[in-house]
Amino acid sequence: MKNFFIWAHRGASAKAPENTMAAFRLALEQGADGLELDVHLTRDGVPVVIHDATVDRTSNGAGAVSAMTWQEISLLDAGSWFDKGFFGEPIPPLVEVFQWNAGRLKVNVEIKESAAADAVVEVWRRFPGTPLVVSSFDQSLLEELSRKEPGPPVGFLCDNRDWLPVAEKAAACRAWSFHPAQEMVDALLVKTCHSLGLAVFPWTVDGPRRLETLWNIQVDGVFCNDPGSVRAFMDRFSTEDIADAKDIH
Ligand code: G3P
Ligand code: MG
Repeated sequence: MKNFFIWAHRGASAKAPENTMAAFRLALEQGADGLELDVHLTRDGVPVVIHDATVDRTSNGAGAVSAMTWQEISLLDAGSWFDKGFFGEPIPPLVEVFQWNAGRLKVNVEIKESAAADAVVEVWRRFPGTPLVVSSFDQSLLEELSRKEPGPPVGFLCDNRDWLPVAEKAAACRAWSFHPAQEMVDALLVKTCHSLGLAVFPWTVDGPRRLETLWNIQVDGVFCNDPGSVRAFMDRFSTEDIADAKDIH
């Protein structure tokens, strides 16, 4: 893994409609190291990439994903709400992302409902070359996944200021990573998680000041909406940092 891992949050979602192939293609172009995406399950059991439980906010349709078939979902326009230039951009099935990615970027599948878990694992097993981490706010689900053989690496999401029990549970599950809301991250959290063997990836970070602070307290990377600008900032910052280090020694 690179020194500072840049996750494209819902793809390059600052400049393309979130959780679409357009956003994932742009993330790759912009130099992201990994894709974060959210998954729900259709009524007929297809894992699809969408953040909300309904299609209302991010498409021209209405209704719960769990009440719609894949065929119904596939006809929706998930691009125009963001910008008319993205007219016709569909909601992708998870398998399409894995196919297109072909192992180039690490993928973080965030499971939004436990019903989708088995379908996600099935897709992962079909694409063994894809580096994957499955994350969720549902700790019981992650515990269950971590007991599967073979099971995908898991990452514990946490938006609870009382983060220590969550980090300890993650370590007990041999999780790969801990994904805290960025506002709760400080040096103690990072140090503790590292001592528990967990990589730390805060979400969602785009501003340079916060990036610099997080870099200084040694997070392993961030989730961001604009991987291009974070890449540019981090490249400049880490080069300066290395130059400074040379001056010191
Ligand atoms: O995985 C980090 C982040 O995506 C969690 O929150 O609501 O953006 O899915 P949300
Ligand atoms: Mg997410």
